[in-house]
Amino acid sequence: MILPVIAVVLCYLIGSISFSVVLAKALKGIDIRQHGSGNAGATNTLRVLGKGPAILVLALDVLKGIAAVWIGRWLGGGAEWTAALSGIAAIIGHNWPLYFRFRGGKGIATTIGVMATLFFFPALYAGIIAILSIVITRYVSLGSLIFVFLTPIFLAVFGEFGPYFWTSLIICVFAFWRHRTNIVKIVHGKENKLGSKGGDRV
Ligand code: G3P
Repeated sequence: MILPVIAVVLCYLIGSISFSVVLAKALKGIDIRQHGSGNAGATNTLRVLGKGPAILVLALDVLKGIAAVWIGRWLGGGAEWTAALSGIAAIIGHNWPLYFRFRGGKGIATTIGVMATLFFFPALYAGIIAILSIVITRYVSLGSLIFVFLTPIFLAVFGEFGPYFWTSLIICVFAFWRHRTNIVKIVHGKENKLGSKGGDRV
């Protein structure tokens, strides 16, 4: 019992490393949460710091999710729930980071890492549709929501109603909660488009 608990706590601590906050501080001496949309994530890093730092933040945040699932698998002896809960813990850490006054991001990059490691093909199919939606609408937030919404549906299509299905539903609820201001903006046609410099802080 103790090892799964250690895995979950460790993954929360790893998820709490907010790479966009660290990089913005290191490169420009700013708190990224005071700029652009105010979100501590790759999309806002693109807005505030540019392409290179955004790609780095995206890669590192995805890696947090991948690492969390592998740590969960390792310490949980391969148990699905330990791997899943460790992934969820990393996303919670990213969204509400211990080291940064619990003000983090919206968890999508870390979610990509978690979902792609736990259930690759459902995440891949949802990801392809999400990317297409971003290319068409230029709303990253909409693509993020489509991704988390479609993944449980694809899992169900594959006949998976076990721990991974429930994990994807929990992650979906987190993502919709964290994107609630984005959803209002999308509805009112005021959401920031990919490539635009704008971004009212949320
Ligand atoms: O993953 C975050 C993205 O979906 C939205 O970010 O900065 O536009 O609110 P942002």
